[in-house]
This record gives sequence, structure tokens and C-alpha cells, in this order.
Amino acid sequence: MVEDKDLNLLKVEKVYEPKEECKKTAHFQDYETLYKSSLQNREAFWDKIAKELCWFKPWEKVLEWNYPYAKWFVGGKTNICYNCLDRNLERGLRNKVAIIYVNEDEEEKKLTYGELNELVGRFASALKSLGIKKGDRVVLYMPNTPEAAIAMLACARIGAIHSVVFAGFSTEALRMRIEDAKPKAVITATYTKRRGKKIDLLSTAREAIKGLDYVEHLIVWDRDKNQTLREGEKEFYNLIKENKEISPAEEMDAEDPLFILYTSGTTGKPKGVLHTTGGYMVGTYITTKWDFNLQDDDIYWCTADVGWITGHSYIVYGPLLNGATTLMYEGAPNYPDPGIWWRIVEKYRVNIFYTAPTAIRLFMRYGEEYPKKYDLSSLRVLGSVGEPINPEAWEWYYRVIGGQKCPIVDTWWQTETGMHLILTWPHMKAKPGYAGKPFFTVEVDVVDKNGNPVPPNHVGYLVIKNPWPAMLRTVWGNPERYEKYWNIIPGYYCPEDLASKDEEGYIMILGRADDVLNVAGHRIGTAEVESALVAHPDVAEAAVIGKPDEIKGQRIKAFVVLRVGVQPSQELTESIKQTVRKTLGPIAVPDEIEYVEKLPKTRSGKIMRRLLRAKELGLQVGDLSTLED
Ligand code: WTA
Repeated sequence: MVEDKDLNLLKVEKVYEPKEECKKTAHFQDYETLYKSSLQNREAFWDKIAKELCWFKPWEKVLEWNYPYAKWFVGGKTNICYNCLDRNLERGLRNKVAIIYVNEDEEEKKLTYGELNELVGRFASALKSLGIKKGDRVVLYMPNTPEAAIAMLACARIGAIHSVVFAGFSTEALRMRIEDAKPKAVITATYTKRRGKKIDLLSTAREAIKGLDYVEHLIVWDRDKNQTLREGEKEFYNLIKENKEISPAEEMDAEDPLFILYTSGTTGKPKGVLHTTGGYMVGTYITTKWDFNLQDDDIYWCTADVGWITGHSYIVYGPLLNGATTLMYEGAPNYPDPGIWWRIVEKYRVNIFYTAPTAIRLFMRYGEEYPKKYDLSSLRVLGSVGEPINPEAWEWYYRVIGGQKCPIVDTWWQTETGMHLILTWPHMKAKPGYAGKPFFTVEVDVVDKNGNPVPPNHVGYLVIKNPWPAMLRTVWGNPERYEKYWNIIPGYYCPEDLASKDEEGYIMILGRADDVLNVAGHRIGTAEVESALVAHPDVAEAAVIGKPDEIKGQRIKAFVVLRVGVQPSQELTESIKQTVRKTLGPIAVPDEIEYVEKLPKTRSGKIMRRLLRAKELGLQVGDLSTLED
């Protein structure tokens, strides 16, 4: 827990007034006025927005709220894929570019809305021909390429529930998710490309589904057309070739499930966050449009990966719902050189650029000369997501990338929230260090454990006081876990982030309140890493903490107790790291392993990570009364 006194260190005084230019391109005028009126009538606000999209049957009620269960657009029928494609064709966007794909070698592929519609429609027919129906799960283990978007949209078109697993996860992490979602099909590619290397996905997927009878099909995008597929395996583009018919969009209830996305929590087992159709559609549509001042001809680039929520909401669904041109990049930010992203901005005249603070800090280290080599004048709005953006990175982003003319839209949200909930709009006064203010109709506060508001500029738990359309509806197969979000601080949704609020209502996010790390913007549960560590035969016990890291935000440090008789060594450290890599994936490998005789525990046997952290960082230890010895 961050102590109040630490806050003074974080307090930032600098304020940036909005630019006139931003006011001109904004989709709403004064935030405070609209926010106030949105609280007067929440349902009217969402009713109006939802009507901008296409519904096969209108809803009877905007919201049905049975704490903690919400239903949005009750009785409404729609299809999100229809809204991403057919609706845009009807609006005359057939020849507009929907997706620009670029990779590290600067190979490109462009798909118009017409082409995307055809590919998605035919792939949807193919899925149906394989017996995949509404409600069936389909797991995607795909590179960040248009094929991933095609597969997601095709699932949505026929009502199958997609579950995308980040292609950086290992066999065991993939298998764990597959075992939870029980998909009828898994879709993968032969490889993904990063730093000039081909990372094999097919072998991982094959291994992950071994012996799982419910996985009836493995669909493989054979990128180099050189694979011999096995029995039960089908090639992605062959399926599209064989199925000429464009599948009609299934009529979906607003509350029918759209996707499951696994995310880390306090326990070792990731949670399958479930999002449904109507509310998620309306929420991602409007936040993409309003929060970035999106204009018709914009080239929009979100540098996330489809394997994470940011990729779902702000590479695929949000931009396509708006008929925007969305850029997808496959590869590392600094390969073949740290100028690659800025070359892409210059070449494609990118207008809206949305990335993570960890990437900004990485570029800061390489220096200004890389971005300075390129013409970044097309940029109009810069976004930030994934962790608090430290004022230093904010200033650099603003000055070096934005040329002091682009607003920085910091966006706080989560896998669970589906859409931005707290942000600084382009035409709003910005306070570097603060995420901003709540989205319309949403009330947020900073409270103590009992739900009482803490005074301004004091640390407490961030809470969301009322439901919003794109909120998660449940945790797949674990309704109790869903209820827990609303029970930590009864009456409110608790994201388990620490925050503080200033006198003007600006929210500063201080990091997680639970045992979840944020490493380079990736959510990693300490318990997940710990169970991966103890999977090593020489490890008896392990505890994991996060340490501040200049670039990644946090780095992983593991304290390991070895089995009796085992001696620490360099080889052992490597072999333990290898186990974590194999069990979870490269993003979860500890940067540091320290061997200890025992771990500090409470009387009830819980590891006191707080104590380890305090000791490591030289902080005050706090209350030790429950410590065993
Ligand atoms: C953190 C990513 C500060 C936060 C969209 C949250 C942030 C967790 C910000 C969710 C931000 C995300 N400022 N912290 N702008 N955005 N976070 O589910 O701790 O991968 O709870 O969703 O990231 O991570 P998730």
C-alpha cells in the first residue's frame, strides 16, 4: 500500500490547457456540462448513443440493474460484426481501407471494408460448415495480423464466443485457458514474426490441445504455404476459398456473450472475463470516437496486440464500428531499429497514435534522434494506456512525438471494464500524472476499506459506483469471482487499483492494490509466477514481488527456497527461469532470483510479499503483528 506521505512526491503541479484545434474536432463541447447532465439521466445518455448503431430489434429497456448484475439494452437484437462491416458498406465505405497491416520488414497489406467483409463472411461460413454454432467457444492463438481480426469478426458474425490468447503465452498457459473455455475449434498460424525471428505457434497449439476431445478442429493459417497439415487440421485461406458464401450475421441478443478474455488476478488461475454483445459494442464505439476526436479520414494506430483487451476494443471493434482505418503492426517496437514506429507514422500519415508508457520510456532511452529523423506532423492525438504515465514520459511524448501540438489522452480502464472509464479528453485541461476524469454517466471515487470517501489528495481504493455498458458480465465458470468485484467494497465495483483524487476531481492512479504486477503494461499475477516457479523440481517455495523498473514500470523479482540439499548456482537460476518461460511465457520470467532460507509468513501461513517488497526497496515495513517470526 502506498502511504499518504509518498503522494507529495507524486504530486504534479503542471497543467496544460487544451488547444483550440482540439475543441474544433471534438464530438461534444463542454465536459462538465455534459457530465452533469449525463448523471441526471444515465439511461437517456446511452439510449441516444446506442441509436447511432444498427439494431435488428430495438431494446425495451436501456438498463436492468440487479446489483451486481446488469443487463444493457434489454430485449435488443443486433450483431457487432454487422455493425463493423455491413453497416459501413451501407454507409458507402466499401472502398475505404479498413485495416492497414505493417510488419518489421515494412511489408504491408491493406484491406478495404468490402474486402474485409468478404473474407469475414466467407470464413464465418467456413466455421459454420465445421459445425460451429452460436454459443460455441473458439480459441484464437494468432499473430497481430488481419487474420486475427477476421477470425474474431467471423466468430462474432455467427455468435461463436471467441477467446483470444496472446501469442506470447506458452503451451501450458494456452492449455490452461483452453481447458477452461472448452472450445470446439482453435485457430492459429504457423508462426508470428518478432525481431526477425519466426516464433512457432503451430507446434505450441498442437501440443496444447493434445488429448482434448472437445477441440474438434485446429485451423491453421499456413503463412509460407509449406506445412503438411495433419488430420483434423484445416488451412485458414483454403477454408475461405472453399466457402464462397458470405454468411449472414446471426441475430444476437444484446446480452449474448461476445468473447472471453483471460486476465491475471490474485489466484494462480487466470480469470475468464466475459463480455456481451450490445453494451460492449456501444461502449467501444463511442469511446473510440469521442475520446480520440476521431475524424472520418483519420489513420488510427493502436500499437497493442489483439491478445489483450486494448487490441480487442481499440484495434478491432471500436475503430471498425466507426468505419475508421485501423493500423495493425506485427513485431517489436525497436526492431530492426528504434525508428521503425516513426517511419510507419510518417509513411502512413498516422493521425491518432495510441501506445503504452513502457514503449515511450523505451524510446526515451534511445534518444530524440530517432523520432527527429521522421516527419511526424500528421499526428493529431496521442493516447496512453496500460499503467500510469509518469510526468517525465508524458513531457517527452508531448514534446518529442507530438511536437507540443498534440493532446495526450491518458486512458484508465481494464480488461473487465471493456472500455475507457477515466481519461483526459483532447479538449480538456491535462495534468500529467493524473489519468483524468470519469466517462459520462460513470461515477468514480476514492474510498477507504469501508467505502468512505478519503479526503482530496489522499490514497485509497478506486471504486466505480454504477454499472456501465461494456462492463464484464461474469467470470466464465466462476460467478462467485464476479461477485467479488462488487464485494471487496460493498456497493461498488472495485478494480483493485490505488488512487487519489484532487480538489478538481482529477484521478491519479497509483498502481495495483492486489498481488498483481504490471510489467511493461502486462498484467501478471504474482501467484501465477510463483506456481510456475514451484513447478521446477528443485524449488520448494517461492514468492514474487514487483520492483520499480525504469522502462517496464515493474520488473519481477523472485525469492526462492530450494529443496533440502540443493545448492544455488547460475545453471539452476537459468533452469528455473526456463521453467517459467515454458509454463507461462517470456513476459513472466523473473529478472532476478534470490535464494533464501525461508519466506516471511503470517500466522495463517500466507506469504507476506509486502514485507519482502519493503525490505527490498528500503521502505517502512508497517504492521508486523501477524508475522510468524
Ligand atoms: C492499469 C489494460 C494507470 C491499472 C487496459 C488497471 C492503468 C490495469 C492505466 C488493467 C492508466 C491501465 N493509468 N493505470 N491509464 N491503464 N492501468 O486489464 O492497474 O490489462 O487495473 O487492461 O492496468 O490492466 P488490463
